[in-house]
Amino acid sequence: MADDLIIPTSATKAEKYQSLIPQIQGLLMGEKNQVANMANIAAALKEGMDFFWVGFYLVDSADELVLGPFQGPVACTRIKKGKGVCGTSWEKEETIIVSDVDKFPGHIACSSASRSEIVLPVLKDDQVVAILDVDSDQLDAFDEEDAQFLSQIVGFLA
Ligand code: SME
Repeated sequence: MADDLIIPTSATKAEKYQSLIPQIQGLLMGEKNQVANMANIAAALKEGMDFFWVGFYLVDSADELVLGPFQGPVACTRIKKGKGVCGTSWEKEETIIVSDVDKFPGHIACSSASRSEIVLPVLKDDQVVAILDVDSDQLDAFDEEDAQFLSQIVGFLA
């Protein structure tokens, strides 16, 4: 049975992640179902970090992602490999930080309110099985600190 998250007020971004990470580990402990685990990661990040949109796209076929567990406004359901930020992160198997979505060629706008984003591949047995996408309604909201903490979090799904 999950308890309420403890979210520090007036904390730095790093302190918020540091508080959330053990709580996320606790939520995932003993649960093998990855949809359930992704759902709790999305909920914990949305509530704990106050992101505009946070969720997963799952590899559904050799060339397409499909929307998975997420928190936030409704979103596009399918993204082709190599398309948008998510499809590019999948194809390149690397984290992408976009400080201004209007400046990323081919960015897929699921919501006009989204201004910046970070996308990380979720790897299992050296294969990309999903993508974590986090959007902000502020420009330039993400940096290497987010990349580092979010990479630790998606590592729990490996
Ligand atoms: N902006 C993403 C699409 C997903 S939504 O932001 C939720 C992209 O360009 O891949």
